[in-house]
Amino acid sequence: MSNILIVEDEPKMRRLLEISLGEDGHTVHIAPDAETALKCFQREAVDLIVTDLKLPGMNGLEFLQEAKKWNASVPVVVMTAYGSVETAVEAMKAGASDYVLKPFSMAEMRLVISKELDVQRVRDENRSLKEALGKRYHYQNIIARSARMQEVLAIVERVAATNSTVLLGGESGVGKDLIARAIHQNSRRASGPFIKINSTAIPDTLLESELFGYERGAFTGANASKPGKFELADKGTLFLDEIGDVPAPTQVKLLRVLQEREFERLGGTKTLKVDVRLIAATNKDLRAALEQGTFREDLYYRLNVVPIDIPPLREHKEDIPDLVNHFLVRFNHENGRRVENITPAALKTLMEYHWPGNVRQLENTIERAVALSRSPVIDVDAIQLDSGGHRNHSSTSAPILPEGMTLEQWEDEMIREALRRASGNKSQAARMLGLSRNALRYRLGRMGLPDD
Ligand SMILES: Nc1ncnc2c1ncn2[C@@H]1O[C@H](COP(=O)(O)OP(=O)(O)OP(=O)(O)O)[C@@H](O)[C@H]1O
Ligand SMILES: [Mg+2]
Repeated sequence: MSNILIVEDEPKMRRLLEISLGEDGHTVHIAPDAETALKCFQREAVDLIVTDLKLPGMNGLEFLQEAKKWNASVPVVVMTAYGSVETAVEAMKAGASDYVLKPFSMAEMRLVISKELDVQRVRDENRSLKEALGKRYHYQNIIARSARMQEVLAIVERVAATNSTVLLGGESGVGKDLIARAIHQNSRRASGPFIKINSTAIPDTLLESELFGYERGAFTGANASKPGKFELADKGTLFLDEIGDVPAPTQVKLLRVLQEREFERLGGTKTLKVDVRLIAATNKDLRAALEQGTFREDLYYRLNVVPIDIPPLREHKEDIPDLVNHFLVRFNHENGRRVENITPAALKTLMEYHWPGNVRQLENTIERAVALSRSPVIDVDAIQLDSGGHRNHSSTSAPILPEGMTLEQWEDEMIREALRRASGNKSQAARMLGLSRNALRYRLGRMGLPDD
């Protein structure tokens, strides 16, 4: 049955309601005034409130309004003295579900209560049905069972239909590329091009010509004119990856395109207009970059129209089992293998890990496990996780004190490891180490590994 809260200052009436409704099988909470009632309401899972309008201290109408602020969906039945119907009307306007005029019979009160509870039940059922069916977002290739990822997809759904600029944030490997593509594919531009440009992968000197294109003779080596990514993305989507690494002069030019939707090719005089939806991504904290002055504030606000933050995998581990299945299907298909399942123990290992490299790291782990597994079921021995305590997310990993190694040697090791993990990409390695490009260059020089 239901949890009912009775608010009535008159002891006899309060007692009568308590006993009668209790006999009907409801759990009844009672309060002699609004203040006590509010406390009870905030503590208990109340399904329905019956309140007198004339109360000492805070009156019933004020109580109704306070209660609605706390939880607007709980039905409130008000009791009011015969001859003060106006107050009942006021209460109905303020959100009461129904009213009963005093004196009333218990039969009358029961009828009103059961009607309200029925309405409430239907409403709840509808809501959970909707949640179970309609409101779950499905996108091909995106695993999102968790509430956190469903939130991300809910924003994707809303933003895809618009032309708004989107700023995707999240650690490396969380799925920024994947989400950017999903936005494009679900937009009206889906039949247009999806063009991606990664500012870390392109030397600073070439970034502008890549973005805006150039005319013949714009610089030495420009033997023919070439359109830039902005032109190529016309009627489609331009995905600017690693936006945090765009150098200052290019930031100025980007700002202009975002404001005016027009630009010139390098060395060109003709102003070009394009119809492009922009999606930018970063695994940096751009706000920190704003404070350090390495990223323009005006550009930030132009980009940050719709921010979407994708959570790290350790914050939506519920998705791990589905992700594992998803990757198993893919790698079996790609490698012609039949490793179709994973043991509970192996899954437990995966669930307990903190995944500093996020979904990409899980993907790589499964790929390796499929390759290594001798049986059709992946067991713990086929799972290889980096044991290095990098990115100290788990509180249990103790700091490592390697014996026979100086601090300098240890630092050199860290730099080599970062380079290895970044597959030789120095900007990325610098980022992992929290160093500037210049600081890394200096250290590489000292280690006898000059920066080429
Ligand atoms: N929710 C997900 N469902 C299925 N696959 C996913 C999901 N999230 C990420 N992946 C997969 O994980 C890999 C890494 O994702 P992606 O490249 O989109 O990450 P990213 O955030 O762009 O990383 P980086 O910052 O390094 O560029 C991809 O192969 C992607 O398909
Ligand atoms: Mg990416």
